[in-house]
Amino acid sequence: MKILLFGKRGQVGWELQRSLAPLGQVVALDCEGDGSLCGDFSNLAGLAVCVREVAPDVIVNAAAHTAVDKAEAEPDLASTINARAPAVLAEEAARLGAWLVHYSTDYVFDGSGETPWLETDTPAPLGVYGQTKLAGELAIGHRCDKHLIFRTSWVYAARGNNFARTMLRLAAERDHLRVIADQIGAPTGAELLADVTAHAIRSARQRPELAGLYHLAAGGETSWHGYARHVVEQARRAGQPIRVAAEAVEAVPASAYPLPAPRPANSRLDTGKLRSAFALNLPDWQSGVDRMLEEILGQQ
Ligand SMILES: NC(=O)c1ccc[n+]([C@@H]2O[C@H](COP(=O)([O-])OP(=O)(O)OC[C@H]3O[C@@H](n4cnc5c(N)ncnc54)[C@H](OP(=O)(O)O)[C@@H]3O)[C@@H](O)[C@H]2O)c1
Repeated sequence: MKILLFGKRGQVGWELQRSLAPLGQVVALDCEGDGSLCGDFSNLAGLAVCVREVAPDVIVNAAAHTAVDKAEAEPDLASTINARAPAVLAEEAARLGAWLVHYSTDYVFDGSGETPWLETDTPAPLGVYGQTKLAGELAIGHRCDKHLIFRTSWVYAARGNNFARTMLRLAAERDHLRVIADQIGAPTGAELLADVTAHAIRSARQRPELAGLYHLAAGGETSWHGYARHVVEQARRAGQPIRVAAEAVEAVPASAYPLPAPRPANSRLDTGKLRSAFALNLPDWQSGVDRMLEEILGQQ
């Protein structure tokens, strides 16, 4: 199997380089591309030529414009990267008879209610990022039957900056933290996304009827406040020099931190369809976060 991976240096892309390797030959590109191969999603013609040159069996797209607030100021660029480029990938995949694997987001929903979102619920994005990600989903759905689209939420990885690292730094410097408590979701590890993707590709190639849109997130739910408290408690248990007491992590509403792009309050994703279609267990969010913390703290 030949796999063409875009966005190889992102959180998910990095883990996909590992998880896809046992499936076959992986041609992995970042924005800079590789020799004559274009990996830049703002170059739509170059992208099409790249797919034709590689002629993969599977395209996996982990590239995206993920800067949610910046997207409000550059909607055209966000639209090109999140919608127009995936549309090109879908056209080229359909032409080749290849599979296209793509990631989307809880931001396609307006965050209302308190129940987990189903794949059949009506999207209503609150901002440019969610709008362009939804447009990308639709573009793929219209152009390429053999697709897997995974909507996920609150992605983290041990590599690079993340919420847990920020909390660890602040918890060592300050004796009081204020963290948003009225947005609910499930922190989901890039490792888990990459492992499920590899499993799903194998299954879907054997059973093409599995093509479709799936919600994919770790089990359980929490708020950013609950996530922060968990990080602080685990770090203290690991003997880290933490200044803030767990009870000094104050729960505040999202309105305490006004941002250019509104965030959905309810980011819960119902993963029942994915778990049943692919016979998968999705571990609780704490297990992935604890592994990531061990990695981060072990490096300090
Ligand atoms: N992060 C989250 O919390 C979250 C939540 C829900 C869904 N998702 C979705 O999950 C997927 C993976 O997200 P992630 O967290 O791994 O994102 P990420 O770490 O921000 O990675 C995105 C990658 O896209 C690349 N990229 C940006 N502009 C590009 C361009 N013009 N051409 C080619 N590549 C470009 C980036 O490269 P540079 O770094 O060089 O710019 C980066 O490697 C995305 O589809 C995202 O929408 C993410």
